Formats: sequence, structure tokens, C-alpha cells
Amino acid sequence: MIRSLLRDDDLTAAEQAHVLARAAAFQRDPHHARPLAGPKAVAMIFDKQTLRTQVSFSAGIAELGGAAVMVDGALARIGERESIADVGRVLGRQVEAIVWRTYEQRRLEEMAHWSGVPVVNALTDEFHPCQLLADLLTVREEFGELAGRKVAFLGDGACNMGHSWLLAGALAGMDVRIAAPAAFAPAPEILERAAAIAAGTGGAVAHLEDPVAALEGVDVATTDTWVSMGKEDEAAERARIFGPYALDEAALAHAADHAIVLHCLPAYRGKEISAAVLDGPRSRVWDQAENRRHVQKAVLEFCVAGGLPVEAV
Ligand code: NVA
Repeated sequence: MIRSLLRDDDLTAAEQAHVLARAAAFQRDPHHARPLAGPKAVAMIFDKQTLRTQVSFSAGIAELGGAAVMVDGALARIGERESIADVGRVLGRQVEAIVWRTYEQRRLEEMAHWSGVPVVNALTDEFHPCQLLADLLTVREEFGELAGRKVAFLGDGACNMGHSWLLAGALAGMDVRIAAPAAFAPAPEILERAAAIAAGTGGAVAHLEDPVAALEGVDVATTDTWVSMGKEDEAAERARIFGPYALDEAALAHAADHAIVLHCLPAYRGKEISAAVLDGPRSRVWDQAENRRHVQKAVLEFCVAGGLPVEAV
């Protein structure tokens, strides 16, 4: 069976735990497994801006013994110059896996349908599962067990990070609170799906409009830019609406004393997060950014192997 990671809940709870454990192993020893030795090629396609994702995947693929092939989305114009189906069938004959950052989730699904190789979501409008695995690895490093840990995500609850926190956090058995204005609440179907997952893992999920209530006693406080890629026209309006959701020292005072701060980056100091918080003692954002490489290697290993190793099933 071809295993892709298109959204966070493409992994079961057990598979997520396995991927995180493998990521921790890659963190300890970056070169201990080389599932892409050959080298086998992985296509990386970017239809949106990138820095961390391009570098962490490229470095990770190299460490796995493989070769990253960059495809410039602006040149390829997938879906315009050529259909997604045709591109998928062509790439599937050349590479072992496809990593794609694009707009609508349905584009990724179509690629996975046609390519015949694993497809990994490197961010869509709806989900950012690789980032979430990096976030969970960072929380795991700090606190050990993920289950039962409380997290508050502040800001645009309808963006990829809000959605992915709901799904991935629920899978990990965490208590996930999305603090967002009503107009930027998570999509109802994602909230429902996350609640169903949480019912099976002992986790909990909620959308709250009040950021202070969401932050009360949390172990992890996190946020994301108020202006996701593709939403630049709405920047002024968003700055006004999201003002009360800024993660500054006053907001952080409501979290537990031991709380850590995460941000997927790029960060805008003085907007969604204050400089004092981002650069302060509770921030784990640089570890979090490093962890992208470790988790993505574990994801590629998992997908290329077609799922869990027999001894782990
Ligand atoms: N929500 C942000 C995440 C950036 C990593 C965006 O989509 O631009």
C-alpha cells in the first residue's frame, strides 16, 4: 500500500508515535538509517514561498542517502501548463516520493491519486502536518509524554496550523484549545474530526474566542503569522481583528509557570508574538525549526517503507 502524508490524520495514533520515536532517533544519530541510499530521488515542489521546508527536506534527504530534486512551481505551473494527473504520472516514473507545498488540499490529493508514489504535504492552505510533527517532537523533548498536555494556539484558527494542531494534537491525546475570533474559527468538519479522534485517545479539543481562557494553565502556548501565504491582501484587516490574540508577556502569564512557547516561523515580532516572548527563556522555536529535519526524515522513511515496520505492527 502506498502511504502518503496529506493531512495529520493520515497517521494513526500508533503511527504518529512511531514517527516521533524515529525522529528522536534521527536527532540522536542523523546517519544511522539510509532508506534513500542509491541515491533515490525525491521531488520537492514549491508553489509558495519557503525557507525552512526547502532546507530541512534537502538536508534530510541527503542524510537519508537520497537526492532532492527541486521543482520550481512558478516554472512548472502544475494544473495550468499541464494537468496535475499528467505531472503526477510523469514524476512517479522518476522519483521515489513527492514533497509538495501548494494551495488547495485537493491538488495534493489529486497528485497522490495519480503519481503511484508517496506524496508528503509540505503545507497547503488547509494543513501543515510536517510542522506539527516537529512541534510535537519539541513538546516531547520538553515534557516526555504528550498525552494530557495542554496547548493553546492563538490567532487564525482557520489556517493550516490551527487545523493541524487540532488533528495532530488530538491524535497525541493532548488538550488542544484554539483561541480565535468567530470569523476565523477552525472549519467545523476539522473540529468534529478532531473531537472524534480525541474521544479515542483521551485528548480534548475546543475553539474558544477568549484567548485568556484558552491560555489558562497550558503547558504550551503557540501562534502563527496572522497573514498566511496567499492572504497578503487581507493584512491590514487581519492586524486589526487579531490584535487581542497576540502572544505577549501579559498573555503568557496565564499559562503554567513551566509553559514553553512555540512558533512555526516566519515570526513577526510585535504582531502575533512579542520580541520578549519569541526571544525569551520559554521559547523553543529554534529547536522546533531544527526538528523539522528530524521528523521529515522519519516521515520519508515511513512513507517509502509503505507504513510501520512489521515488528512495530
Ligand atoms: N500559516 C502559515 C504557516 C507558515 C509556515 C502560512 O500558511 O503561511
